[in-house]
Amino acid sequence: MAEIFNHDWQRTKLCGRFDESDAGHEVRANGWVRARRDLGGIIFIEVWDWTGPIQIVFNPEAGEIHNLAATLRNEYCIAVKGRMRIRPEGTENPELKTGNIEIVASDFLILSKAKHPPFMIGDETDSVDENLRLKYRYLDMRREKMQKNLRTRAKINAFTRNYLNEREFVELETPMLTKATPEGARDYLVPSRVNQGCFYALPQSPQLFKQILMISGFDKYYQIARCFRDEDLRADRQPEFTQVDIEMSYIVEDDIMNLIEGYMKGLFKEIRGVDIPTPFIRMPYWEAMDRYGSDKPDLRVKLELCDLADAFRNSGFEPFRKILEAGGVVRGLRLPGGAAMSRKEIMDLEAHAIKLGTSGLANFLYKDGGLKGPLIKFLKPEEVDKVRELGVMQPDDALFIVANESRQKACEILGTLRLELGRARSDLFDNSPDNWKFLWVTEFPLFEWSAEEKRWEAMHHPFTSPALDNDTPFDEDPEHALARAYDCVLNGNEVGGGSIRIHDPDVQARLFKCLGITPEDAKRRFGFFLDALSYGTPPHGGLALGVDRLVMLLCDGNSIRDVMAFPKTQKAQCLMSGAPDEVEQARLDELAIQVVKDEE
Ligand code: AMO
Repeated sequence: MAEIFNHDWQRTKLCGRFDESDAGHEVRANGWVRARRDLGGIIFIEVWDWTGPIQIVFNPEAGEIHNLAATLRNEYCIAVKGRMRIRPEGTENPELKTGNIEIVASDFLILSKAKHPPFMIGDETDSVDENLRLKYRYLDMRREKMQKNLRTRAKINAFTRNYLNEREFVELETPMLTKATPEGARDYLVPSRVNQGCFYALPQSPQLFKQILMISGFDKYYQIARCFRDEDLRADRQPEFTQVDIEMSYIVEDDIMNLIEGYMKGLFKEIRGVDIPTPFIRMPYWEAMDRYGSDKPDLRVKLELCDLADAFRNSGFEPFRKILEAGGVVRGLRLPGGAAMSRKEIMDLEAHAIKLGTSGLANFLYKDGGLKGPLIKFLKPEEVDKVRELGVMQPDDALFIVANESRQKACEILGTLRLELGRARSDLFDNSPDNWKFLWVTEFPLFEWSAEEKRWEAMHHPFTSPALDNDTPFDEDPEHALARAYDCVLNGNEVGGGSIRIHDPDVQARLFKCLGITPEDAKRRFGFFLDALSYGTPPHGGLALGVDRLVMLLCDGNSIRDVMAFPKTQKAQCLMSGAPDEVEQARLDELAIQVVKDEE
């Protein structure tokens, strides 16, 4: 057995690719040991690779081989030689692709032993504590589901490249060590040794570089680009993630949308075998907010918000009347059958809504032939009728109401409840596989007010072109100015976002001014870009797709961590490698960096 792995031991096929046509032939298999069973002196094991398992039989007659097989443990990596045969009648396993065949071992080689794994490796591994899975990511990935997800990811990347290459897009790389680009998150900074006290920023996206490539004449660019953002993490956000980043010259919105619709159509056909309908619905931002309470509405949920202003505008319920007089809104969410909710359920829902940022959640219940609720006593009968009418209420329905000075806030709170209440009910949520609801959200506001910073911020990014048909110049009425921006939304996920860009340096300067960026500041931060803009910039635009989110949806995953080989935790740590980590003093000295530790 003191043999080494050479050509003689190399697999004749991948484990899961053996079939009945191999019966009667000498074959070799390589892989990991799974599921050893001893039955009446015969030892059975499965040898596994990403294509699945093949059963190996060690008969007692095999002598020393058989004795050695008894020492095999799960996850040992082995090579086996033997004769393939059809399994004896009654021992087939219809659940396995290779369930009709088995290799009768004549020899085997332990290529390497394995320590006892910290968890069982199989589909059930999903229920293991995720931190343990992330610490031993190599073992977690040594199973069918992760193999399938990551291989699907690779297929999607290959499809992307083909699709764009066929259309004369040029794949170009932009730097990782760069200057900060403002996408709204914090930058990851990298200290420079040779320029002490100076830092590179890792790109939040290749935004400025891809625009510069347009100025250089690469009129169709793409990159499967790594992006880095130091922001609060969630199931659909990672500190490093991947975009399909696209930019084109001499285009309008339709060109990008057509390109992406064609891409999605091809991709979903290739990966899921389904025909998704195109063109996608287009919905202005405010319509999405008013109807669904979200700028990434999940159209699978069959609930819509309603506007109740007309019922309360002149009503005797002063708090709502005042909010309306001050320019605020009163909006509602109808829940079919909701009148059956208990007092406690309704109070819990209100407490939840309050956590989301409203001062209260009013309700009407349609039962015993009429509307009931704490506000009834403040309303005239015709106003109660109006509530029922505007809320499109049917007997047994509940209507939940949020009044707020901010239209956006009221919509967002009800939008959250819409998702939570809707997704919990199969009659309100069509969660069947391959129910893909795409849409474009368009006509975003150009700016949003930052209460923290007390200034306007770009809603998309500050290179987004203002809409052409803004009635008033954008800088005279920033609150109502719209942007030529669009998001691609799928089942409640923002899978992509982009815009037509500003290509006129004067417009760019005016926009910076609106954002409170002084000309000196703009020059310091983006001087190189403003310079470039002034050398004959073609009109251009583009978008970036979130690869991780798209792959997650195509793999029916719940988190983008399920489709990344080495994701980070909520605390942005890599549990496997232990990053981020402290570094030696000598290396800090080299970089002229001093770490001040918080005593606590
Ligand atoms: P945006 O910031 O909208 O646009 O990003 C584009 C898409 O990238 C995905 N995404 C993320 N995925 C995982 N983790 C994150 N932290 C994360 N952040 C964003 C989303 C999003 O739709 N430069 C512009 C694009 C452009 O204008 O062309 C940009 O980066 O799916």
